[in-house]
Amino acid sequence: MENTTRLLERQCDELADRKWALVNANDAAAPSMSGCVYSHADRPVAAGVDVAMLPTLPHGVDLVVLLLPKSLEHLEFLLAALAGQLDQACELWLVGPTRGGIKGGMTRLSRYAGQVRSLDSARHCKLVSAMLSPQPFSLSAWTRTFSARRGAQPALEVTSYPGVFNHGTLDEGTALLLDAMADVAAPQTVLDVGCGAGVISAVMAAAGSGVTALDVSATAVAATQATLAANQLAGTVLQSDLYDAVAPGAQFNWLVTNPPFHDGSERTLGITRRLIESAPQLLLPGGQLWLVANQGLAYHDWLEKAFARVIVAAENRRFRVYRAWH
Ligand SMILES: C[S@@+](CC[C@H](N)C(=O)[O-])C[C@H]1O[C@@H](n2cnc3c(N)ncnc32)[C@H](O)[C@@H]1O
Repeated sequence: MENTTRLLERQCDELADRKWALVNANDAAAPSMSGCVYSHADRPVAAGVDVAMLPTLPHGVDLVVLLLPKSLEHLEFLLAALAGQLDQACELWLVGPTRGGIKGGMTRLSRYAGQVRSLDSARHCKLVSAMLSPQPFSLSAWTRTFSARRGAQPALEVTSYPGVFNHGTLDEGTALLLDAMADVAAPQTVLDVGCGAGVISAVMAAAGSGVTALDVSATAVAATQATLAANQLAGTVLQSDLYDAVAPGAQFNWLVTNPPFHDGSERTLGITRRLIESAPQLLLPGGQLWLVANQGLAYHDWLEKAFARVIVAAENRRFRVYRAWH
């Protein structure tokens, strides 16, 4: 159980008397607490939780409990979307780790909700309260775009929302990956693993590949769908923990990825290890994995174990692009 949930449990008597909604849930325990009538998360945390970019508050909620997201811009995005759904002022509790930016979160919260009051603190977390007032919400005000291309292709417009990896800018590693792939003919099918704002998907779809994109984050899924639509491109976009939602038996010519090295706010290489080890099952015979990683991340051995042949297709001071054949 997360420390934020333990802190909320100290308020369980009050919560049991309220009709409250949990937004940006980060574990399975909080949504089952007494009084919780609706819970939302960006990625699946428990059965019954609404996995979506933005929450949809049910009628009659008298308290919103918001778990502090990793980025303050994402916090403001959620606050603005919540304020857009209110028809009268509603109490909002913000809970987050002291070292995870709760102080900055309180400052941002005060912009939307006036005075912020401390309710409790324990287990290196803090719980604060404020009154959130209704305000019009427009998704376009929160949308950022940037351009990306592969080789001599015309530039494409990529749509990004707060909370998506590298919000609003092309990642340097992804740019190197796109350049490395530029001289190789686009294959028939591509699986974009951890699609973020959909940069790789859009570029490969524009080059003529049939694209399937997946990401564990509902916000990334929404951004990738918007990116494909903005460029009149087709593709299948799945909300999926690694390959879980890929149809059983489906195989692709290429898997392309700038893989995650975080799980939520925890740094981990475990997801990429699973991604590499299971990749051959998702590849057609002769298929390839293209993967970009920070120099110094130890993926080479895992790639050598899983694949018949591995080369470094490009590198610079910070990043390395691997190309591995099944
Ligand atoms: C480094 S970002 C790359 C995003 C995008 N492809 C790009 O190049 O800009 C890694 C992505 O992996 C996603 N991710 C993290 N854990 C995942 C998992 N278990 N399954 C699928 N995607 C995951 C993150 O949400 C994030 O969008």
